[in-house]
Amino acid sequence: MHDLEDIDTIGVVGAGTMGSGIAQVAATNGYDVVMRDVETEYVENGFDTIDDSLDRFVSKEKLSESAAEATLDRITGTTALDDLADCDVVVEAAVENMDVKQDIFADLDAVVPDDVVLATNTSTLSITTIASATDREDEVVGLHFMNPVPVMKGVEVVVGEKTTDEVVAFAHDLAEDLGKETWESDDKPGFVTNRILMPWINEGIRAYDEGVASKEDIDTGMKLGTNVPMGPLELADHIGLDICLDASRTLHEELGDRYKPAYLLKRKVDAGDLGKKTGEGFYTY
Ligand code: CAA
Repeated sequence: MHDLEDIDTIGVVGAGTMGSGIAQVAATNGYDVVMRDVETEYVENGFDTIDDSLDRFVSKEKLSESAAEATLDRITGTTALDDLADCDVVVEAAVENMDVKQDIFADLDAVVPDDVVLATNTSTLSITTIASATDREDEVVGLHFMNPVPVMKGVEVVVGEKTTDEVVAFAHDLAEDLGKETWESDDKPGFVTNRILMPWINEGIRAYDEGVASKEDIDTGMKLGTNVPMGPLELADHIGLDICLDASRTLHEELGDRYKPAYLLKRKVDAGDLGKKTGEGFYTY
């Protein structure tokens, strides 16, 4: 059984944007955290990112100085994976490379007790394939945080082929205990978010490249036209173009050409189900 009451220490593998954000959120919510990266410099950069973010919360009076200090005190940095041995759950947020992730999971499997859940923050790679590097495939789950982690409210829980219902429930509970709201996705390429977000970003980039509008007008159009906080080009910059490209490549490899109008869209229109205005679309009104 995996119970939040048994969780005191959370291990985080990776101290980059996502890893440091996850470490920060875990520590702010009272957990001890061991944040590990391969080089001391990366760990230090992770602490700098956390410092900056905590400063922003303090200056906006969303967090007291003492709570910010307590957050930092709860985080231990390390370059040794062995230092995660006493963690009660581990969240991996290393680079989006299957070989790297499988190596990390195989090492974690050897270091961390058998009953500890290993979560991955992967944004597009298969949970099932990552889990296959371990002997605890039933205890591997996706916990996909959004960037910037300290601000974004949502976490996507991704269910691998072998992940048990109990571990899925635990993943929801843990994310909620970190102040997040969750939704669930099956282990299919890109899950819910990136399967839909990456084509949107790529289409924004193509629209710019094909001269549909200036980059500013594309971003403004999507912001004012659809009430999203960032247009596709600025969001791509925010996420990191390399990360977008890696995610897009994975989706392309797995899903092929997804840019034709969806067949179901055409069928619904032919059937006269036009959405809210006809009372029937993808939903019933
Ligand atoms: N730490 C602490 N506070 C932060 C912060 C951080 N890292 N980043 C932003 N903030 C705070 C700001 O201080 C500000 O606080 P107030 O509301 O109190 O003023 C607030 O967040 C808004 O920030 P800004 O005023 O600087 O700018 P903004 O209004 O444009 O918001 C944003 C920034 C929160 C990033 C917003 O633009 C946004 O939500 N953008 C969309 C982000 C998004 O879609 N993320 C998901 C990307 S996809 C992903 O992550 C998954 C993947 O696998 C690729």
